[in-house]
Formats: sequence, C-alpha cells, structure tokens
Amino acid sequence: MKHADIIEKLTLQEKVRLVSGDGPWHTVGFPSKGVPSIMMTDGPHGLRKQGNGETDINDSTPATCFPAAVTSGATWNRELIARMARAIGEEALAEGVSVVLGPGVNIKRNPKCGRNFEYFSEDPYLAGEMASSYINGLQQTGVGTSIKHFAANSQEYKRFNSDSQVDERTLREIYLRAFEIAVKKASPRTIMAAYCRLNGEFCTCNKRLLTDILRKEWGYGGLVVSDWGAVARHVDAIKAGCDLAMPGGSRYEDDVVEKAAQDGTLPMSALDECCDRVIDLALKGEAVRDAHKGASYDKDEHDKIAKETAAEGMVLLKNGGALPIASGGGLLLVGYMAQNTRYQGAGSSHIVPTKLTHMTDVLQADFVAGYDEKGDATDESIAAVKAAARDARVVIVAAGLPAGYESEGFDRKSLDLPAGINRVVEAAASVNDNVVVVLMAGGAVLLPWLDKVNAALFAGLCGQSGARAICDVLMGRVNPSGHLTETWPLKAEDVISEPFFAKNTKNVEYREGLYAGYRYYEKANVPVRFPFGHGLSYTQFEYSDLKVRYAAQGAHGDGAECKVSLTVKNTGDMGGAEVVQVYVAPPKDSLYRAVKELRGFEKVYLEAGESKVIDIALDDKSFCVYSMADNKWVASGGEYIIMAGSSVQDIRLECKVTAAGAPLAEAGWIKDSWYSNPAVGTPSRDEWQRLMECSPATSTPLDLDAVKKGDFGMDSTLKELAEQNKAVRCFVEKYKERLARGMNVPVDSDDERYLMAVSCTLDCALHGMVIMGGGTFEAQTAKALLDAANGKCDDRVVYDLISKLYGV
Ligand code: BGC
Repeated sequence: MKHADIIEKLTLQEKVRLVSGDGPWHTVGFPSKGVPSIMMTDGPHGLRKQGNGETDINDSTPATCFPAAVTSGATWNRELIARMARAIGEEALAEGVSVVLGPGVNIKRNPKCGRNFEYFSEDPYLAGEMASSYINGLQQTGVGTSIKHFAANSQEYKRFNSDSQVDERTLREIYLRAFEIAVKKASPRTIMAAYCRLNGEFCTCNKRLLTDILRKEWGYGGLVVSDWGAVARHVDAIKAGCDLAMPGGSRYEDDVVEKAAQDGTLPMSALDECCDRVIDLALKGEAVRDAHKGASYDKDEHDKIAKETAAEGMVLLKNGGALPIASGGGLLLVGYMAQNTRYQGAGSSHIVPTKLTHMTDVLQADFVAGYDEKGDATDESIAAVKAAARDARVVIVAAGLPAGYESEGFDRKSLDLPAGINRVVEAAASVNDNVVVVLMAGGAVLLPWLDKVNAALFAGLCGQSGARAICDVLMGRVNPSGHLTETWPLKAEDVISEPFFAKNTKNVEYREGLYAGYRYYEKANVPVRFPFGHGLSYTQFEYSDLKVRYAAQGAHGDGAECKVSLTVKNTGDMGGAEVVQVYVAPPKDSLYRAVKELRGFEKVYLEAGESKVIDIALDDKSFCVYSMADNKWVASGGEYIIMAGSSVQDIRLECKVTAAGAPLAEAGWIKDSWYSNPAVGTPSRDEWQRLMECSPATSTPLDLDAVKKGDFGMDSTLKELAEQNKAVRCFVEKYKERLARGMNVPVDSDDERYLMAVSCTLDCALHGMVIMGGGTFEAQTAKALLDAANGKCDDRVVYDLISKLYGV
C-alpha cells in the first residue's frame, strides 16, 4: 500500500465514508488527516461540470462541445484524438476537475443502442486504439480519465439490472479487448464498472472482472469507480475490487459495510486497499489542481480543434459528382437541422457549448425547413420543398435523427429516419438531380432513397462547430477523410444480434458470439449498405508495394510482432488523407473465426501527386485466439493473409505470412454448427449454450426473468414491482407526474430529457434509485414498495407513503 501512514490514522467510519463519494461529483476529503477531496465530471466529448444548484442534466458550466465519439472515431486519427482530449484536459484544469469520465469504449453490438454515439466502434482494435490516444492525450495535462463502461454494456434497455451473458472467447476477443488495449497502452487513471451484470454477477461486484482479469492479468494499477448508482452490494463490491462507489451522500449500506468490517466478513485489508487507491487518486488530483490554480484555456483555439476533428470525421458515403460544390449561387438548404444542428447526444454527455453555429449561418443559400423538430412533414411543407428545389443548382438536405430518437437511457426503436424526413428527401430528389444529403445522427440509419440522390455525407454528431466543418466539406475547402467505424446494414433484420437485443428480458444472450459488426456480414455473405471502414474522398489513392516483416515473439512476449509497409500515392488533383486499413485473414482451418479482422491502420495526408511509404505495426494479438480450454491467449499458427485496403470490402493489396505455432483446432460440434456457417439462420439456444459450456470460467446463465412476487429485491426496478402490485403502480404514476412537472413537460412527453429521466428511474435498480436519489427516494421508501410487491405488507402502507410524499 502506498499510503499506509494515512490509512493508519483513519477510523473505521472514515474508511467507510472514503469508499463512497461526497455528493454527486466529489470524493470525500479528511483534510486534517491528509486526504483531499477531488472532483470528477462527465465526459467524454467535453466537460459537463455541474455546480451544487445544477441538478438538471442539461445544466452545466459552458465548455467546448467536441464531436461525439461517432464522429471523432471516424477520423481514425490518433494524433487528432489525442489533441482533442488534451484540450478537454485543459478545460478540466481550468475548472479544477481532476477526472474526466470518459472515453466510452463499449462495442457497437447493434446500431440501435441508444448510446452508440458515445462509443467509438464495432471493432475492438479500433476502439482500443482511439481510446488509448484519448487517454494519453488527456492525461498529459495531469488530469485523469475514466474508461467506461466496464464491461459488455452494449445496450441501454434494462441497463441497470440485466445480465450480459457472453462466452469467454467472445468476451476476451471482442467485449474486453478495447479495455485491455487501453489499459496496457495508456494506463487510464480510473476505470468505470458498468451497471449491468456480466455472466451472473453485477460488474461492480464482479471479482473475476475487476481483480482477476483487470488487475492480475492486465496489471492495472489505477482505481475502479462504479458507474453512478451501480453498486449493488457494497461489501461484495469492495471485496471484488470496486474502490469507489459513486455518487455519495445517501450513505446507503454504510452501516452494512461497517458491520461487515467489524465482524470480519469484510477483511480490513480489502477496505484498506480501496481507501489506498482513493487516497492516491485524490493526492494526484490535488497536486495537479494546486499546480494549475487560476489556469484558463483558449476558447477559440479549442473551438478550432473541435472544428478540425469534425471536419476529419465527416464520412463521404456516396458522391455522384455533385460534391464538392463549385462556388456560385443557386444553392438551396432544406431541413430543420440546417437551422438547428443536431450536434450532440442526450444524457450524461450533454455539454453546454461555448458557441454554436448552424449551416444556415454559414452557407449562402435559400432555406426551406421541410420538416419540424420531430421530423414531421406536412403536404404543404413537402410542396414548398418541391417548389424551391425545382430550379436550384444544388439542393442540400440536412437530415438525421431528432434528439428524441436516441439517447442514453433507452435504445432506438428502429433504424429508420422519421418518415417526414424521408419524404422531404424523396420530394427534393423527385425534382432535382443534384440532391446532397447531410446526415446528423449517432450511428447507422436506413437510407431507402439513396439511389435517388446524388451524394450523401455522414456528419454524425459533429460538436459545436460541426456545421462549419460540414460546409467546408460541401464546398471543397476540406477534402473528406472520415471512414465508418461501424457497418451500415441494408435492413435492421440483417443485424445478427437483432433477435437477442433489448428484447423483453434481462437475460441478454450474446448468442452471435464473435460475429459483431463486419465479422458477421463478411462471414455470412450478407450485403450491406456501407461496409465497415468505408469513406470516399475528392481524390484517389493508389496502393503498392506491400511488405510484411514477422517475428514470432514480440517485445512484450505475449504475441507475435508484425510490421507492414506499403506505398500510398495520391493520384488525383487535390490534397487529401487516406485511412489505410490492414486486415488479417486467418488460415482456413477448422477454427471458428471471422473472415478477416482489423489489426492495424494509419491515416496519411498526401498532396496531389505525392506518395509515401507507410509503416504499420499490427496488434500483438493478430495471430492469436483466446483459448477457452486454457483460459489464455494462444498463438494459432498457419498461413495468414495480410490485406491492405480502404474498407473491409475494398482490399487493394494482399500477401501471405506464415505464423508460428500449432494450428488450433475447434471442438468437433462447432464445425457443424451455425458458428462455422452463419450464412443461414441464427444461432439456436442449444448451440449457444454449448458454446457457453466451453468456457470453464463462465457460469451457467441465470434466468433473471424468473423473479416473481416474493423474490423482488433491491436489484429489482420500480417498473418490475409495479407490474406486480397496484399500489406500486399508483406510486409510479405519481412519481412520473413529479418528473414531468419538474421538466415542465406532459407525462407522456417524447422529450428526450423526460424519456431518459423515466428510464433512469423506473428502469433503475432500487439500490441505484436510493444511491442517486439525493434524498428524494429513501431506503425506507424502497423497502415499503418491496414489501408490498412481495406481498409482505398491506398495500395501505404504500398508499400512506404516497399521501405523505405527494400529498394526495
Ligand atoms: C452514466 C455514466 C456517467 C455517469 C455520471 C451514468 O448514468 O452511465 O456514463 O459518467 O452517469 O453522470
């Protein structure tokens, strides 16, 4: 322990207080004993610093709103992400904040996840690399980061108490891999344990996850903080290695922890270790804060970085020649979003920007709204679009998902754009051949009209100065160089996780196994709208001279070292950047694997006519698989193919390399199963269960839906209790009314803040409600509701509570 001298001086009560926060954002301080208090704030794409009076999620100190990960990730530019994160760190220094709660690296398992906009990719290597750059960049300022949400938290539906059921190989190769890369390459000062369960145990209480894998295997030396309200059982969380339970203030279970420490069921050494890490974090934070008292940052400079990141993250999806737009008149701008950029997502990452521009502020063009805030169009608005579009030289339609369609707290209902927005695009395209669609959304959407429009540009959620970046790309002042970090499917049903994603159950079966994103489409030969890695440019790039150097043992000893070099030439007449992607295809053995996997990439800028030799070092696990039988990464030898290309489907060069090691063979049954041939149907439950049984470390999946009257506990939700009991239903109605009143919206509002608040309370585990309730939802309230739903007390107890709390 680093701070035994301080810990020695703390009383048991002080230790117990130290492992929970002080209010929503601070750690507890004991100045007289040498323990300072520090502040943490969200993250990830800017600072959401809230003062004491700011309780609305959208109220915070203005800060630069950088593009969300959907856009910054699409830059594939490590240096730029680091620069952006460094700027966020500088803002944290100026605000006295010691830890920024980001980046988010959960895998985009299904485009419907409401929070995908905060995550980098469907590919763990790309997500891990981007996260490492972010962490290294931000931590250079001395401020800490919190990589989140650890782990397998890839849906919002029932996020507070569902169980992510993942076989060990899929877990290691896909859902843990980005965290592993970032932990090893960038040492994030903190890591945030997710709300959900992983294979039967809450992530916050999951010793295997937080201690055995994170600390012992990966050598992590930082602090584990819980997601806000995620600690289900504090004693078990401490034993598991969850150092800090946030937020504080409720003192929920403080007495339980104290008692356990007294009677020895919680070893004092475990509590001391958590205290040691909290103290260490606080001392580091204090030292940096003191050294930067009075620091400020350059708002204009940060706005420039936000714009540059947005510009590099723009993905040109299609171009029939309308782009770039030649200067001159005759431009028509269509769409509510042209006047009201959709530039960030809703929830805990919401930033109050320092400034904000819209396309209508920047482009010299006529304007027609076409659709409203909710994406609705009328016959009149459609007629107005047609009338204006007919004679325009180029029609630019700003389209996308309205704010209420995607958010933290709930998932998207479909992949469709609002019908009104589709109508507007169709209307413009029916009268004009030069329609350019700019898409503002947190992820993949369906584009039924794509063949009818000339060009499409995906802006993602581009941050406060994104509108200027969009216009720079449209007008050719910037050559687009973003590439997709997730596959865009043709239909929602093509997404392989769809039948098992956010379906009325807490048992979240990751039945598709390793086939996340392109790994599935490639293997099953399913056509897609746009492949992973896709992104066009106004110039062309030629690839040549691929060379590979392979050494069986890498510098770290845990994988082969492989370096690839190739020449890329800009053969067009405009300077531009290319994202060179290296995929590795495994030997054609009996092992169940993806067709090819991203193992390296580099972004390179080339003037017109220029060529450069590019060196790319591949991921050290490029020739390994995670062996479930041995519970470790093992090299699987044989003839691999190294492929260099501009997307997973646009491979330009390839060459072979023979990797050392005996080729691994799979269990016989897999050869005849869906996993070896996913082209037909979906994995059956039996097959998936057999896969789960192959991992000795993974327990048999629980059946959480089986919880009935009598068995509800603090991990149940108000919604679940209400389904069982009329008095709780009445309580819930009153609770919703109060939420709506507080936000000045109707009870059935589709306002995204209200939807998020409803899901974060009614769908929240009761322990989370008490921890986060800030005194508005007390442990006794939870107990009364639980007793009623379990049939242990008369409903009158709840009705009395309602009249006491709500005066009715
Ligand atoms: C979110 C985290 C966030 C935290 C604090 C949670 O609900 O899941 O991502 O950092 O709140 O706002």
